[in-house]
Amino acid sequence: MRQLPLGWFPHGRRLTMNSPLKIQLVAPTQKCRESFLAALREFQEEGLSWWFGGGLETAEHDFAAFVASKLADSSRRGDGLVPKTHFWALMEEQFVGRISIHHELSDALRVEGGHIGYDTVPSFRGRGVATEMLRQALPLARALGLTEVLLTCDDANAASIRVIEKNGGLLRETKVVRENLPPKRHYWIRTISQVPSSQ
Ligand SMILES: CC(C)(COP(=O)(O)OP(=O)(O)OC[C@H]1O[C@@H](n2cnc3c(N)ncnc32)[C@H](O)[C@@H]1OP(=O)(O)O)[C@@H](O)C(=O)NCCC(=O)NCCS
Repeated sequence: MRQLPLGWFPHGRRLTMNSPLKIQLVAPTQKCRESFLAALREFQEEGLSWWFGGGLETAEHDFAAFVASKLADSSRRGDGLVPKTHFWALMEEQFVGRISIHHELSDALRVEGGHIGYDTVPSFRGRGVATEMLRQALPLARALGLTEVLLTCDDANAASIRVIEKNGGLLRETKVVRENLPPKRHYWIRTISQVPSSQ
């Protein structure tokens, strides 16, 4: 199984020299416990808690186990699950968002989910966090062996569409996945091995 080489996300070290926002992608870590839990509460109020597995209570009561479970996802497989590497975005040591990379596509992910998914903490939106997370994640996807990545996004999600297109996403198709829900846009991005300089 493909794993990122050691040193790709050392705790406390930035991955890029040119990050305009000083966002650092790190592996899930206990060091940002308080800001992470505060963020989870914000996501929960918004109804978006699904992405962390709904385990707010587990996270609050045993953050070490929660972090360990997130780290283990990178080698977990079965029941339709494919390995997935999580990165947390820190800004001045505060958790401000998360992005994850599926190492391969399952049939379900090919329709909805794709290789890469992300969320910005509600109180940090509109500052370029997601754009920067995706920019930094593309070389990490490349290091996992992905030369091209699929991102799926609701046709109504203008902010995410902008994030993907700013990172070079090419719209390949838009399809109805479920009745009464917005169609899904399917974007593909060719990965590169280095984080480019920001403009
Ligand atoms: C989508 C999401 C990740 C964007 O995060 P973010 O950190 O605010 O994104 P950024 O600040 O990097 O960029 C957002 C871009 O969308 C634009 N935008 C925001 N709302 C918009 C709207 N309603 N219409 C058009 N553009 C919009 C912003 O102006 C910005 O573009 P700009 O840099 O050219 O000005 C965030 O809104 C989120 O977490 N939403 C809920 C979860 C989600 O939708 N995840 C993605 C699933 S595909």
